[in-house]
Amino acid sequence: MKIRVGVVFGGRSGEHEISLRSAESVLRSLDPNKYEIVPIGITHEGKWLSPGKSVALLPPKETIETTLVKGQPAALTAEPAAHGAVDVIFPVLHGTYGEDGTIQGLFDLANIPYVGAGVLGSAVGMDKDVMKRLLRDAGLPIVDFWAIKKNEIESFVARRSRELPYPVFVKPANLGSSVGISKVHNANELAGALKAAAEYDRKIVIEKGVDAREIELAVLGNDDPIASIAGEIIPSREFYDYEAKYVSEDSRLLIPAPLSPEQNAEAQRLAIGTFKALDGSGLGRVDLFLERGSGKFYVNEINTMPGFTSISMYPKLWEASGIPYPELIDRLITLAIERHAEKNKLKTKY
Ligand SMILES: Nc1ncnc2c1ncn2[C@@H]1O[C@H](COP(=O)(O)OP(=O)(O)O)[C@@H](O)[C@H]1O
Ligand SMILES: [Mg+2]
Repeated sequence: MKIRVGVVFGGRSGEHEISLRSAESVLRSLDPNKYEIVPIGITHEGKWLSPGKSVALLPPKETIETTLVKGQPAALTAEPAAHGAVDVIFPVLHGTYGEDGTIQGLFDLANIPYVGAGVLGSAVGMDKDVMKRLLRDAGLPIVDFWAIKKNEIESFVARRSRELPYPVFVKPANLGSSVGISKVHNANELAGALKAAAEYDRKIVIEKGVDAREIELAVLGNDDPIASIAGEIIPSREFYDYEAKYVSEDSRLLIPAPLSPEQNAEAQRLAIGTFKALDGSGLGRVDLFLERGSGKFYVNEINTMPGFTSISMYPKLWEASGIPYPELIDRLITLAIERHAEKNKLKTKY
């Protein structure tokens, strides 16, 4: 019996196009001898497409072998057992409504196994304010930060603008891909950066900037996760902004990152600690800063559904650590099914 995998992609997110690229790699690498593949595309507007129309969302250069489930609507309902069409879901969705716990809530209601973090892990991984509080609570090193609401911008500028440790980074609390993020070099630039971030979220995070190397690790597992070797990003611009991530070709990935064995061990300890503190499951890419002067590591963030094309950092880190891309997908699907089985063993009546 083949496992029927629903691969969900696109979605109502600023990272819609990036999701399509990730999904294309996943769809091409799922072994058709083991899996029946049901592509489930979600448009920018949030419409769930049938398998045939879903494939049409993807870049046209590849034909992807899929099992089209005829007559089945792609849309899920919240009722367990009403879905029937798939055994497990791989939500290859980045950012809002995909990586933030919302769609995970739907899968939980429908009682379908799915790859990646659950509702809580997804939501806290998305909110840079709550995420940093939990990391601090777990004793993990983070940079100094402040969080304010949109309606507090004026008073924050009045009270704090002269004493902040410039440069600072100003970010919408819930977003990704560096959208809405500014590096603020002095007090004059602060108000503009806060207003720009507030266009994307009602909550804004202000962080002390560190002069740091950007080190990333891949974590895999449920309650007993493992960490890959470390990789390093060399951004092509002043920081790793949207342009440096997706537009310019000049940002570089170094795998492995040139680190001492002690630094590697420390980075792995922090990556696993972060994954556990933030209730990760399945996968997560943990991004660290390694401060140039002090040699001190800080945890920047977790991404619970990191870029997943075959040339993205997450799969490449595992490849370099001995887990090739198709095997990585197999393991993620197994982890999803295991977690779901564990959960269904729990008592729900008293
Ligand atoms: N406190 C900081 N110090 C130095 N650089 C930072 C800091 N915060 C963010 N950056 C730079 O901005 C980039 C994007 O910030 P990040 O918090 O990772 O947001 P996103 O979730 O959009 O990736 C980082 O990869 C880094 O280059
Ligand atoms: Mg980041």
